[in-house]
Amino acid sequence: MLKIDHISKVFNKGTVNEKQALYDISLNVAKGDFISIIGSNGAGKSTLLNAISGVFPVDEGSIVLDGIDITDMAEHKRSTMIGRLFQDPMKGSAPSMSIEDNLYLASGNNGWFAKITAKDKKEFRERLSLLNMGLEDRMKNPVGLLSGGQRQALTLLMATYHIPKLLLLDEHTAALDPATAEKVLDITKKVVSENNITCLMITHNMQSALELGNRTIMMNDGRIIYDVSGEERTHTTVADLLNLFKEKAGENLTNDRMLLS
Ligand SMILES: Nc1ncnc2c1ncn2[C@@H]1O[C@H](COP(=O)(O)OP(=O)(O)O)[C@@H](O)[C@H]1O
Ligand SMILES: [Mg+2]
Repeated sequence: MLKIDHISKVFNKGTVNEKQALYDISLNVAKGDFISIIGSNGAGKSTLLNAISGVFPVDEGSIVLDGIDITDMAEHKRSTMIGRLFQDPMKGSAPSMSIEDNLYLASGNNGWFAKITAKDKKEFRERLSLLNMGLEDRMKNPVGLLSGGQRQALTLLMATYHIPKLLLLDEHTAALDPATAEKVLDITKKVVSENNITCLMITHNMQSALELGNRTIMMNDGRIIYDVSGEERTHTTVADLLNLFKEKAGENLTNDRMLLS
């Protein structure tokens, strides 16, 4: 489904700030795979997802999504196939617009003369009620009034309104309090599994990295240093992950978000 072949990325090439963020990364993702990605600060996790979504071109290598070579495709074009969520709940929805207007945009009905119909509203209401957050009764409220957790849940709904070929989650629960983070994670699990979405999720939470999905990848210094799935993964513990990181990276796994949670 997603085939990443030998991609590399250097930022600020030829300057004192030159930084190689990805070293010759190859990754094969099967359809329906739900992969969690862990690693220390600056490991290149976000850079990997940004490379896939086309925030910047890669220096070397290729990225093929569902048989389409997207290596040189513009970000906005890739966005029709790739859904994304970020850590910041403020990203991904328009604060001054109502919940229903945001969903209307996500549904793709945003032409000049388009108008929300009763049928659209019924559809939005049904989808919102799946979140179990009471948002179906607040469809006229501006999104800016929602809590961080409600907003992330809405953004998830928008990003998956039309099932994307790929869903990229970059620490999308890291800015939420633990209880809300768990709720948003539960919704994520539900939406991803019910729709069989292929998903890459960066997380600082080692436990959810092992519990969610079917494969876990560990990154350090621009490289994938561990990749576990199947039987081996079911026996892997958080302590194992931490030990493995120390063994392979030569230092303890530290991530300021881990320390905050
Ligand atoms: N747009 C950018 N310009 C310059 N350097 C960047 C940029 N994005 C990331 N980097 C650098 O690349 C490295 C990897 O960053 P990132 O992928 O954000 O790490 P992670 O998400 O694993 O914490 C870091 O050293 C970071 O400072
Ligand atoms: Mg990051």
